[in-house]
Amino acid sequence: MTVLYFDPSLTDDERRARLFAGDLMVHRPTAHSMALVAFAREMVERAFAPHPPPIAQRHLAPREYVDILAGLKPSFINHPRSVELVRGILADLGADPAETYFDVPRLRSMTSDYLNAGLTLQFSPHRDTWFSAPMCQLNHWLPVYEVVEENVMAFHPPYFGTPAPNSSREYDYAEWVAHGRTAAARQVETETRPQPRLTEEIPLQPDLRVITPPGGVLVFSGAQLHTTVPNTSGRTRFSIDFRVVNRRDVEAGVGARNVDSACTGTTLGDFRRVCDLEPMPPELVAAASAAAGPSAVSAPPAAPAPRARHPRPSGARS
Ligand SMILES: [Fe+2]
Repeated sequence: MTVLYFDPSLTDDERRARLFAGDLMVHRPTAHSMALVAFAREMVERAFAPHPPPIAQRHLAPREYVDILAGLKPSFINHPRSVELVRGILADLGADPAETYFDVPRLRSMTSDYLNAGLTLQFSPHRDTWFSAPMCQLNHWLPVYEVVEENVMAFHPPYFGTPAPNSSREYDYAEWVAHGRTAAARQVETETRPQPRLTEEIPLQPDLRVITPPGGVLVFSGAQLHTTVPNTSGRTRFSIDFRVVNRRDVEAGVGARNVDSACTGTTLGDFRRVCDLEPMPPELVAAASAAAGPSAVSAPPAAPAPRARHPRPSGARS
């Protein structure tokens, strides 16, 4: 059984426990989520002017389109206002700012029957935990414009507690940081970077799709198997997502059960604390990394990041 909670009256501890058990949560738009949507629209509309962003793909050549995204996405990700508003959303949702850590907010664009690589890649079925996300990671996702069932993501809840054959064993997060993600803007129409994926076909229907209004916040475990739906809506989907962990969960090893993730490394070093933007303590990152096995490349040093911005653009999945 999978439960979809709408605006649950639960404490943050209760909420996380249910998300770790495979349930999903939707929160109605909050003051800060709507401010983040407004800020994203401002940036996206300026970048694609004079074309309305959801239909700009009809007017631009692929290279031109990708060049716009290559400037837009890092600007949004690293903008102090984006980071401030994510902190506000987490406060709106009742997360403890002294124990809660978050990764940079990503701006996603999923074109319709147009591009499917690099900055516009539509992800095949995956768990974020196949990409070195911690088992206690909670994904937060919100649409920037109206969405429909043909341009959101699909969940496959029967696999939450059931292994799915996959290639995560070949994924090394340190190697991805060193080589893979900087290549995103060079992947225009064909995706050549190896990504964890299903290695056998499994039944994925019926799936579950959640339609929230712009600014409505969908929260789910990073261990959920989910897919970017091939967009046939005729409109590009713009959405924002960010990942969240609670330090007490990291320390206690609490989270979703690992049924099939075998990747190397951890993304924990990318997380910053809500109250003061301090990075995740290096000893916790090192312990998680050691538990995931040795990397083939040297991990980047766990130096403190700048306080007002996050150092790394881009990233993976949603
Ligand atoms: Fe994902």
